[in-house]
Amino acid sequence: MKYDKTILVTGGMGFIGSNFLNTYVLKYKNYFFINIDSLVEGSNVENILVNKASNYHFEKIDIRNKEILEKVFIEFNITDIIHFAAQSNVDDSIKNPTLFIETNINGTNNLLELALKYKINRFYQISTDEVFGSLEKNEKPFTTNSNLSPNNPYSASKAGAELLARSYNKTFGLNTIISRCSNNFGPNQRLQSLIPKFITYLIEGKKIPVYGNGENIRDWIYVFDHIEAVDLLFHKGISGSVYNIGANNEISNKDIVKILLKITNRDESYIENAPDRLGHDFRYAIDTSELFKDFGWKAKTNFEDGIKKTFEFYKK
Ligand SMILES: NC(=O)c1ccc[n+]([C@@H]2O[C@H](COP(=O)([O-])OP(=O)(O)OC[C@H]3O[C@@H](n4cnc5c(N)ncnc54)[C@H](O)[C@@H]3O)[C@@H](O)[C@H]2O)c1
Repeated sequence: MKYDKTILVTGGMGFIGSNFLNTYVLKYKNYFFINIDSLVEGSNVENILVNKASNYHFEKIDIRNKEILEKVFIEFNITDIIHFAAQSNVDDSIKNPTLFIETNINGTNNLLELALKYKINRFYQISTDEVFGSLEKNEKPFTTNSNLSPNNPYSASKAGAELLARSYNKTFGLNTIISRCSNNFGPNQRLQSLIPKFITYLIEGKKIPVYGNGENIRDWIYVFDHIEAVDLLFHKGISGSVYNIGANNEISNKDIVKILLKITNRDESYIENAPDRLGHDFRYAIDTSELFKDFGWKAKTNFEDGIKKTFEFYKK
C-alpha cells in the first residue's frame, strides 16, 4: 500500500508516545508509523497495543547514534518526525545531567540534521512547560512569549532541544512545530512518577512520600488531551510556531493526595513527608488561550474524571 505519510515517532514506548501511537495508528490507516525507542528504564514494549497493525513498525534505536539512526531514513522514506524521545525524569537529571545533554540535546540535533538531509516535511518537537522555570503563587501563567528560565538539568536540556529546533527553522527553513505541554497523567506512565507512584503505593497499603510541604503546584492535563492537541498541531500548526498545551488545571501535590486518599479509602496516616527535591520548582501554569483562539481547541477531560480512569488503569 502507498501511504500518504511515513511518520517517524521517537520514544513511542514511553508514556505519551505510546498513547499517541495506540490512538493514531488506528485512526490514520493512510499513514505509516515507525516507532524508534532505545527502551530505557521506564519505557515498556507492553505499552503498545497496535504492534500487529500493518501501518506500524518498531525498531530499537538510540537517537544518540546518528549512523544507525540514518539507516532508518535510508530504508523508510520518512516524510515527517514527531519527536517524543527524551530522558524525562527530573530526579534522574539531577543525578546524571550529562545523560540528559547527550540524549535530549545531541539526540535531537542528530534528528534535526537528518531531517534536513532527507528533506522531511515537518519536524515536531515535543517540549515542556518546565522550560519556563517556576512561578510564584500570584504570577500570571506563562505565555508562549515568556522567557525560558529552566531550573534543573532536565528542563535546561529540553530548552536546549527546542531552541535547536527553532534555529533549524530560522537558519535552514526546516518546517518545525514546537509545543510545550504541562504535566501529563494517565495510563502507561512509569511507576516512579508522582501520580502512578501514589496510586500504586496506596493500593499496596504503603505510605506515600510527599516532597516538602506538598504545596508545589502543577498544571495537570490528561494525556489523551495532550495527544489530541499534538495531532491537531501536527496537521494544522504553522511552521516555526511555538504553542502551549495545557488544561488550566492547577492543583497542589497536597490536593492530589487528598483526591487519591478518597478514591482509595485511605486516611491521612498514609502520608509521610519526604525531604524536598533539589531546585524544586514551586509552580507551573501556562496560558493556552492561543490554542483556543487559533483552533478552538481546549482540553476535554476534567481532573476528577481523568484521575478516576487513571486509577482504574493502575489497579488493573
Ligand atoms: N510526562 C509529562 O508530563 C510531559 C509533559 C510535557 C512534555 N513532556 C515531554 O514528552 C516527551 C515524552 O515524555 P514521557 O513522559 O512520555 O517520557 P517517557 O520517559 O515515558 O518516554 C520517553 C521515551 O523515550 C525513550 N528514549 C529515551 N532515551 C532515548 C534514546 N537515547 N533513544 C531513543 N529513545 C529514547 C525512552 O525509552 C522512553 O520510551 C518528552 O520529550 C518529555 O520531555 C512530558
